[in-house]
Amino acid sequence: MQHWFSRVEDTLVVEDVGLDSIAAEFGTPTYVYSRAALTTSYQAYASACKGRRARVQYAMKANSNLAVLQVFARLGAGFDIVSGGELKRVLAAGGDPATVVFSGVGKSAAEMKMALDHGVRCFNVESIPELERLNEIACRAGATARVSLRINPDVDARTHPYISTGLKANKFGIAFEDALAAYRIAAALPYLEVTGIDCHIGSQITELAPYLEALDKVLDVVEGLEREGIPIGHINVGGGLGIVYANETPPDITAFATTMLDRVAARGHGHREVLFEPGRSVVGNAGVLLTRVEFLKPGCARNFCIVDAAMNDLSRPAMYEAYHRIEAVRPGHARAVKYDVVGPVCESGDWLGRDRVLAVQPGDLLAVMSAGAYGFAMSSNYNTRPRAAEVMVDGGSFHLIRERECVNELFVRERLLPV
Ligand code: LLP
Repeated sequence: MQHWFSRVEDTLVVEDVGLDSIAAEFGTPTYVYSRAALTTSYQAYASACKGRRARVQYAMKANSNLAVLQVFARLGAGFDIVSGGELKRVLAAGGDPATVVFSGVGKSAAEMKMALDHGVRCFNVESIPELERLNEIACRAGATARVSLRINPDVDARTHPYISTGLKANKFGIAFEDALAAYRIAAALPYLEVTGIDCHIGSQITELAPYLEALDKVLDVVEGLEREGIPIGHINVGGGLGIVYANETPPDITAFATTMLDRVAARGHGHREVLFEPGRSVVGNAGVLLTRVEFLKPGCARNFCIVDAAMNDLSRPAMYEAYHRIEAVRPGHARAVKYDVVGPVCESGDWLGRDRVLAVQPGDLLAVMSAGAYGFAMSSNYNTRPRAAEVMVDGGSFHLIRERECVNELFVRERLLPV
């Protein structure tokens, strides 16, 4: 547990604020983030980049709350976006569109136009039809689109199959073997300017080896391009660095970033700018999901601890069988029992943790740990459940950064049929 989440007189606190006071003020379920934790993990990347040609593009899909983006924008981060909606969030948070790289396999014409109008730094392009569409949109807009091609290096990131992206069988990127041909097409299109190369092999990666393997392949492509007179200004090495949910042992952020930068320099590419696109490793361990126990339901096969957060609030366990530690905010005197911690949603897949030993009783608060990344961002209104509130702790104070939704607004856009 990072030291921003600690115990003071038995109560779980975030920085200097007890999670019980946050629940008392804003109710549950509520996502709670630590500004100091966000800042520290960002700074771990920034310190590795210091004195080098390198910068951090926060992959905002992991957590796109405006206040979170604002914290990173103020620290000098750029952003990795995957939709026009995310670009609007960057603008609303006071971020600079000139620091934005636009990723994703299916950018619409409207999204391309909007990103061009705002002067984004670069489009990370994933196919030849996408190059052609972008060229056409840029032509109509009287603009030049800066592009990087996402190379699929066919490297196994050795992570969950749903979050592995750098294999031939994945939908992402342009096959390593086809890279030179695709770059020739890009370089010949009149409204495109080739500026870089990118690659992203997966998420929750806990080893350095797949990164270095992918980086070497990307650098091979860069050298091939150089021989053809297609200059590459920046190398975007993607995101994906894993965090500790249970007992994983990922490299620490600074060691990871330094290793990558050293390899780039060792291969004679130190003059090019390196971009990192981290999401999870900067926000994952900066947030928890605060929830309250509704009922305990002992059974002959399993005991259930039914809480007020569900798979619609945190879908990672249901989707990836992901493990999140679960802690009582204030351990009471109840008997310790092994429970499956489940939500109220009508699905057997609605669980947050299995086989957890907890000493709890109805009304107690639990914290689902390491929920800052792909938590709220992937939440839904399934079962007509309003999405949770979000709170940012900053030292001894805390701020509501997203109000809890109310039920009426969930169907405000729906229409009854005429009779
Ligand atoms: N860059 C690109 C092009 C990406 O597709 C992603 C994540 C990132 C950067 C950031 O990766 P990170 O540093 O966060 O690993 N919902 C899943 C994770 C999906 C990751 C999608 N792409 C989960 O909850 O585990």
